[in-house]
Amino acid sequence: MIDAFRRVVAAEPDPAIPSPNIWKWPDVYERENRAQDAEGAIWAALREVVPWDGLDVLDVGCGDGFHLPVFAAGAASVTGVEPHAPLVERARARVDGQARVFRGGAAALPLPDASADLVHARTAYFFGPGCEPGLAEAQRVLRPGGALAIVDLDATAPPYGRWMRADLPRYDPARVEAFFERAGFSMRRVPTIWRFPDRATLEAVLRIEFSRGVAERAIAETTGVEFPVRYRLHVRRKDPITPE
Ligand SMILES: C[S@@+](CC[C@H](N)C(=O)[O-])C[C@H]1O[C@@H](n2cnc3c(N)ncnc32)[C@H](O)[C@@H]1O
Repeated sequence: MIDAFRRVVAAEPDPAIPSPNIWKWPDVYERENRAQDAEGAIWAALREVVPWDGLDVLDVGCGDGFHLPVFAAGAASVTGVEPHAPLVERARARVDGQARVFRGGAAALPLPDASADLVHARTAYFFGPGCEPGLAEAQRVLRPGGALAIVDLDATAPPYGRWMRADLPRYDPARVEAFFERAGFSMRRVPTIWRFPDRATLEAVLRIEFSRGVAERAIAETTGVEFPVRYRLHVRRKDPITPE
């Protein structure tokens, strides 16, 4: 088992989908993460589906580990996996031993079979049509009865979804949702508020998320220091083992 584990840990990460927001501006993204889901609606929805206290949690595409300490507060163990090396370093510094962080990608997870109860991926655009190898990997590392929970932005909800689609005219939310439905996921929409400490932070975040024109339009359309952002929470359970 240990040899098999070492082999997968040593494997090269699968190609990462570039994430300019957190790759290029991790400090602004940190402020964005603090502003996101200001009322904890995503955490509440996740907890309803999979209360993770005492369980083994894996966060795929964990970035610089913003969500790892939240899981670590109750989980038996927490592992983050992230392909972008500088973010792996930042995540390790953040968790300071509360969690393990490995370099790797969704399609080749550096974890043994049946070693996690909850596989979580947040703003995980690497999970969508064409991500079957990643779904198969999540299935492999889950224990029977465990769950894969994918949290992503809901591009059908204004205003944020409208700004997203202005920059991604070929993105087809209906196709993405149909993909997850065919793959056996339940889906729930989670309305949230992004709340910023001040206008300067709100504007800096919009400028790392959108092209210049769309960001300036978004800034002009917002007043105050908050706006609504809706998410999709897709969940699929691995069948429990049933006694014969
Ligand atoms: C928008 S960031 C979100 C990071 C983190 N989940 C968070 O919410 O703070 C998306 C992350 O997915 C990672 N990523 C990109 N391609 C990936 C892949 N194939 N497998 C796993 N993670 C990937 C990026 O490096 C980036 O850290």
